[in-house]
Amino acid sequence: MLWSCTFWIWSVILVEILGSSSGTPDTPLEENAWALLVAGSKGLWNYRHQADICHSYHVMIAEGIPAHRIIVMMYDDIVNHPENPTPGKLINKPNGTDVYAGVKIDYRGKDVNPKNFLNILKGNRTELKGIGSGRVIESDENTNIFVYFADHGGALTLNFPDASLYADDLQHTLDEMFYTTNRYNKVIMYIEACFSGSMFEGILEEYTRVFVMTAAARDESSYLAYCNLPQYHNICLGDAFSVSWLERMDKEGKGTFDQFFHQYQGLRIEVRESHVQIYGDFSIGPNAMTPNNKELISAPEYLTTSVSARDVELFYRQHKVSAARDMETKLAAQKDYDNLVEGRKIADELMEAIVTTAVAGAPHLRNAVNGPFCLLI
Ligand SMILES: *[C@@H]1O[C@H](CO)[C@@H](O)[C@H](O)[C@H]1NC(C)=O
Ligand SMILES: *[C@@H]1O[C@H](CO)[C@@H](O)[C@H](O)[C@H]1NC(C)=O
Repeated sequence: MLWSCTFWIWSVILVEILGSSSGTPDTPLEENAWALLVAGSKGLWNYRHQADICHSYHVMIAEGIPAHRIIVMMYDDIVNHPENPTPGKLINKPNGTDVYAGVKIDYRGKDVNPKNFLNILKGNRTELKGIGSGRVIESDENTNIFVYFADHGGALTLNFPDASLYADDLQHTLDEMFYTTNRYNKVIMYIEACFSGSMFEGILEEYTRVFVMTAAARDESSYLAYCNLPQYHNICLGDAFSVSWLERMDKEGKGTFDQFFHQYQGLRIEVRESHVQIYGDFSIGPNAMTPNNKELISAPEYLTTSVSARDVELFYRQHKVSAARDMETKLAAQKDYDNLVEGRKIADELMEAIVTTAVAGAPHLRNAVNGPFCLLI
């Protein structure tokens, strides 16, 4: 894999490097915010996705989003399934409380599909007439939208019960909402799925006010949580990334202002089997979901600068050089930095040569393939 794919590992360091400049704290989900919560699977063995989504509903309520601004898509075939290990309930951790109770489901069964998902997101009420609750996100340019999706995924796809959502369709919808219809201020997406990084890597722009956290990198699985428990018939109760962020939100204390960057930093350590990733507009990274719907005790300082994702590793290594406290460390850090710069040069030249050859017969394609390359080789 080329170096350019590895920078994500270092993204976390953004906070460390840039956390000292000042700005205004922002809490995307406090006012005029909507949440769209989607369990993309069906079948008893996928118990965990609907449990994750139900759990997130209560987290959204606790964060201060009113029920009338939360939309839930869930097949809803588990809670009354004859073999449900927790009859009439869904739990998201061993001995946990019933997270199904109180959740208002808008779209069930076959209505949980990619077409409806995109129409709900972009607020096309006409298209949803007569389907489920018919509710859509009623947003304008000041609205912040939170999307949480849990299910299986593949390269450039997220699964719905009977169809797939493709990366380009999602991107097309986000583009339309940003460039044409002006339907959001910020979008924050948390995606639990295998290969979830592939939906955004090299696709999502860095300046369209969309910030995404995914359970897994573009070429790896995401992992399960609370499995192999005989009392629950070995049915997994949750997913690793999902229960980590949800339980983190549950535990937030008064006045907690958990920046997305900070949350990412915690989750990437906690979620061991896959690599939690962040994509998109890092200027949203210093925001928090909310200060846990409570009074902010002391506002930390926030960064206003943003760094191209491609340069994060460079920034990190540079920082290590300047932060070194002794000569030996400094020299080692300097060597790392020099190697990185040299490696980037070689990689860039190699890509340049490949691209030049590839588009030799079609010069008009040259611009289409410009930009940070990320190939699996
Ligand atoms: C769940 O409850 C059972 C029975 O009360 C107990 O034996 C077990 O230790 C509990 N498990 C957890 C993770 O709390
Ligand atoms: C909703 O979708 C229909 C059909 O695709 C389209 O004609 C209409 O313009 C859309 N309405 C809005 C408000 O986007």
